Amino acid sequence: MGYLTDAVDYYDRAGPKTYETITQLTAWQGPSDMAMMLRDINLRGATVVDVGIGNGPLSDLFRRSGAAHIIGVDGAQSQLDYCLKNNKADEVVQCDLNEFDMPLESETADVITCSGLFSYLAEPSFFVADIARVLKPEGTALINFHPTRNHCVQERISAESFFGQGAFVNVYHHAPEDLAMHFANAGMRVASVKTNPHGIYRFMTGTPLPLTTMALRKI
Ligand SMILES: C[S@@+](CC[C@H](N)C(=O)[O-])C[C@H]1O[C@@H](n2cnc3c(N)ncnc32)[C@H](O)[C@@H]1O
Repeated sequence: MGYLTDAVDYYDRAGPKTYETITQLTAWQGPSDMAMMLRDINLRGATVVDVGIGNGPLSDLFRRSGAAHIIGVDGAQSQLDYCLKNNKADEVVQCDLNEFDMPLESETADVITCSGLFSYLAEPSFFVADIARVLKPEGTALINFHPTRNHCVQERISAESFFGQGAFVNVYHHAPEDLAMHFANAGMRVASVKTNPHGIYRFMTGTPLPLTTMALRKI
């Protein structure tokens, strides 16, 4: 038994430190897999928008690679406060992406990263269109997700590890072909794809869940 909450509330109440512990316990590979693919992208002078920034695990890489400006977008204010205070982002924007478009000007980003975010988007086509809007022409988006062959699989995961009181959150697994189609409809093409069979380990059972990372280019 437990109560159902949404991902933004879950991450807001968990806060950045608890989130970091969870990433260690589950051996979360999202940011490191994405970092490998970011090696092929020139970040010097780039404006990067990290959506679902959480506690900002990619920001050291952005800074080392010469990014000029990092904008962090997230629904959870506690994660954004941490990012601003700890120099993980130059600017932060609070937004629930299941409800609203990003409050950013069109064609502002050279690179958009979304690590760990698509698992919380029930209907990602609107957000995908917004990624294409915010990217500059020829800009790149990097996303990751837990792939499924079915169109969209919904699952409730226990957030007990965060609160110790039996909260549940809906997560969504997406089919790679569906996401590629949403991006194609938004004027973007798949540049590369990699799947890690051990992208994360389920908290209670320790079973591995694959994680696909996709790079997409705005045409
Ligand atoms: C799994 S964490 C990922 C953090 C970091 N990017 C990483 O890879 O470790 C997911 C992040 O997405 C944010 N998020 C989830 N659903 C969201 C929504 N509907 N709108 C905005 N942010 C959301 C959460 O608040 C959380 O910070």
